Amino acid sequence: MNDATSRGANGPRGLVTSIVDGVPMSGGHTLPSTNPARLDEVVGEVSFGDASTVVRAAESAKKAQEDWSAVPAPIRGRAIAHIGRLIEDNAEALAKLVTAEIGKPYAEALGEVREIIDTCDFFLGEGRRLYGQTVPSEMPDKQLFTFRRPVGTVAVITAGNFPVAVPAWYIVPALLAGNTVVWKPAEYSAVSSAAFHDLFVRGGGLPDGVFNVVHADGAATFSGLEQSLEAGLLDKVGFTGSSAVGREIGALTGRHLQTACLELGGKNPLLITPSADLDLAVEGALFSGFGTAGQRCTSLGTVIVHESVHDQFLARFNAAVAGAKIGDPTQDVLMGPMMDVKFAERFEDFLGWVQPHQAVQAASGKITKDNPRDGFVGDQRTGLYYHPVVIDGVRPGDRIFMEETFGPIVGIASYQSLNEAIEMANAPGYGLSSSIYTTDPKDAFTFRDKISAGMVSINNSTSGAEAHLPFGGNGKSGNGSRQSGVWVLDQFTRWQAVNWDYSGRLQKAQMDVVELTPDTTFRL
Ligand code: UN1
Repeated sequence: MNDATSRGANGPRGLVTSIVDGVPMSGGHTLPSTNPARLDEVVGEVSFGDASTVVRAAESAKKAQEDWSAVPAPIRGRAIAHIGRLIEDNAEALAKLVTAEIGKPYAEALGEVREIIDTCDFFLGEGRRLYGQTVPSEMPDKQLFTFRRPVGTVAVITAGNFPVAVPAWYIVPALLAGNTVVWKPAEYSAVSSAAFHDLFVRGGGLPDGVFNVVHADGAATFSGLEQSLEAGLLDKVGFTGSSAVGREIGALTGRHLQTACLELGGKNPLLITPSADLDLAVEGALFSGFGTAGQRCTSLGTVIVHESVHDQFLARFNAAVAGAKIGDPTQDVLMGPMMDVKFAERFEDFLGWVQPHQAVQAASGKITKDNPRDGFVGDQRTGLYYHPVVIDGVRPGDRIFMEETFGPIVGIASYQSLNEAIEMANAPGYGLSSSIYTTDPKDAFTFRDKISAGMVSINNSTSGAEAHLPFGGNGKSGNGSRQSGVWVLDQFTRWQAVNWDYSGRLQKAQMDVVELTPDTTFRL
């Protein structure tokens, strides 16, 4: 066993282990988590558990839940407040760790940490609200009430592209509402996750078992979930990741009469109408296409631009992409490396989807000495650096148009009528984020009305949602669940309806109800 809790976000990191019921658990296989910008740099060694680690964590969460839910909600809110302050005091160290582990440019990593603080700021007050309602009864001497009750034990499985912000979207409201948590972070961001876990447990003064973290691969996690659900140890599963895995989790939880909170992929469209401010659209497309190296669930998929401004937009966009700074994520760059070898390899597969009728605008593939990038910041040999790719002439039906291509790749399609454009935007069947650039309010409102997405930007990029609006998608992007703000409380609480009859007799609903007699024949 290794005392992972003695590790500090700034100091040398020991072995990262699962922590179950407050106890570090090592013993499984150990793998390094490396820096994708400097592949020979090990950010930390991670000990991976198996399905039984997930089950033990679920048992520990189950054991701790009753006492945690008995802590008054305002006191749980204070814990969230303290966590937020501790994260704020450690913001730079945590952001540096995120940059080192997944190659997210430092400014973005700091923004990501800010998103945790924002989430804590929102929910610390919710501890003093967490309102129920008093509801009038149809009978005298009877009162009706609603109470929010915690769901119970929550398993949270997150991706590593937002290794600390997105987990906070689940874990902060789940804890606040009186649930206990088992968190399975992505394997390639385990060291950042360990720091997050430390900050939460220490900052919140959380009792053992309230917040457990398990490092395990996908197969072990799935089997551990299956066994835990079977044993009645888990009451809710939250998952952020691919639509394919989301379907599996949805099916598994459905068999246990549960609805998972699913935040899945996207093929997010950005429409440009003839009236749009093209420079603004270029700026938005550049950030949402290539920020985070295109590895956000909200990243831009396809620009759908009116044919009358297509050539102008393309020329300006190509110039902006050519001039963007790419390279060392500790520097001021738009785009760093891919997060991990598995994403780099998959990205190369996506590049293989290009068809003869499509036009790749500039160099594509890995940035090397023979396939260089002008103005590259740093040394491209050390990391997983790829060219940002713009592909003109994509069409509905093309794989690049229809499927999520997680990475720095943006398709361009053109349209004639707004209805056709919206149909194209909805065609891939996802529905997470979307954007329209226009100065015509009618176009903006028509788009809002007809787009299938859960999130709509007007004159803003597809990515960069604020942390207190409902976040979530439709179609292949989820199962209708929403995170963030007051909306996420419905994921982590269940309504309890209470009626209290103090009339001293049995008053039967719908039957023992006083009727007033209307005069229906009256006319003026
Ligand atoms: C994700 O990629 O899973 O809206 C989340 C955004 C960020 C969150 C993205 N605030 O782009």
